[in-house]
Amino acid sequence: MDFRFTEEQLMIQDVARRIAQEKIAPSAEHFDRTGEFPLDNIRTLGEAGLMGIEVPAEYGGAGMDPVSYVLAMIEIAAADAAHSTIMSVNNSLFCNGILTHGTEAQKQQYVRAIAEGREIGAFALTEPQSGSDATAMRCKAARQADGSYLINGKKSWITSGPVAKYVVLFAMTDPEKGARGITAFLVDTAREGFHRGKTEPKLGIRASATCEIEFADYVARPEEVLGREGEGFKIAMGVLDAGRIGIASQAIGIARAAYDATLAYVRERKAFGAPIGTFQMTQAKIADMKCKLDAATLLTLRAAWLKGQGQRFTAEASIAKLTASEAAMWIAHQAVQIHGGMGYSKEMPLERYFRDAKITEIYEGTSEIQRLVIARSETGLR
Ligand code: CAA
Repeated sequence: MDFRFTEEQLMIQDVARRIAQEKIAPSAEHFDRTGEFPLDNIRTLGEAGLMGIEVPAEYGGAGMDPVSYVLAMIEIAAADAAHSTIMSVNNSLFCNGILTHGTEAQKQQYVRAIAEGREIGAFALTEPQSGSDATAMRCKAARQADGSYLINGKKSWITSGPVAKYVVLFAMTDPEKGARGITAFLVDTAREGFHRGKTEPKLGIRASATCEIEFADYVARPEEVLGREGEGFKIAMGVLDAGRIGIASQAIGIARAAYDATLAYVRERKAFGAPIGTFQMTQAKIADMKCKLDAATLLTLRAAWLKGQGQRFTAEASIAKLTASEAAMWIAHQAVQIHGGMGYSKEMPLERYFRDAKITEIYEGTSEIQRLVIARSETGLR
């Protein structure tokens, strides 16, 4: 066992930290307040290889390993969670699925622009009536006599939906077959039959744009099927396994930012004639914050390492996401509490960390779904 990072891993961490500190942190408050999409910053991340970290150089990415992805995500999320949301969807949910299941032509056509940050990708699984129970989808793709598919239906809560150029879409091709009747498609949002709804106002990650999308007689060509017909659910689940490592990393970044701010504050802020960091009640909080942060980081690195070794990491990714997202929520909560009125004020970023942390317990599988995946894996029961 070796806890040291490689030179390449440290290098990409350094690149991400520099962009995070120089470009993203100074504009985070603006993007959170206005809800504007940070296109210019995303382009900068793309130019540095951070929109396709695990994508081989031949398709426009940085060609790094999953541990590098974790390290870079943490740095970006510590500066601003919304930026890391856009980054995680491009990296894990869009590029990763096409790299694993796409044809050579699909990799050439769809991955490069997204990995280079010139275009934005999205992932459309959830529907108004189907979130955790993903197989209950109603969006239909009916195969036509010429081999193409006619797609009709709605998808909701689509991260980057308002700005995406391409979407990995999951639709029912054979409702009788349940999970085995779902197929994945690569959708071009410029084509007829694709419509975007209004951008959703949200509690946190406000600069990451989210909307409903609708398909009305959208025609997908046979070469736009990702994987094979009926394989869509397994593709979605495999992609989400990797995605959960990304969200765990995002949660760690938010938690680290809240923790670092708190450490500085308890050293300086005085009450009753002493720094508040000398009080036992504060010390207990600091110790618990640190333990949760380290546990989340190690579990996330374990899941990433397993992925890099080509091993199955479904349960480990769920353990990492569950631990990290609940740690982020708890740490952000304690950070606001320790800062008192300043934690509640928009003068400081603590209230933003608190709002941003919440989504990590919800998207890419709620904490309840992570517990279900972990328990099924442990007991072997369903
Ligand atoms: N990898 C590969 N295959 C998998 C798999 C995995 N991780 N998990 C399940 N499968 C396979 C099963 O082996 C099974 O295959 P067979 O038919 O050959 O037996 C098939 O998929 C069906 O599996 P289940 O019977 O376990 O399916 P289920 O209906 O019980 O659902 C679930 C399982 C874990 C609850 C799943 O529905 C799930 O993860 N739900 C949460 C969905 C989710 O995370 N949504 C997030 C939306 S995307 C998002 O949030 C993006 C964003 O905004 C940033």
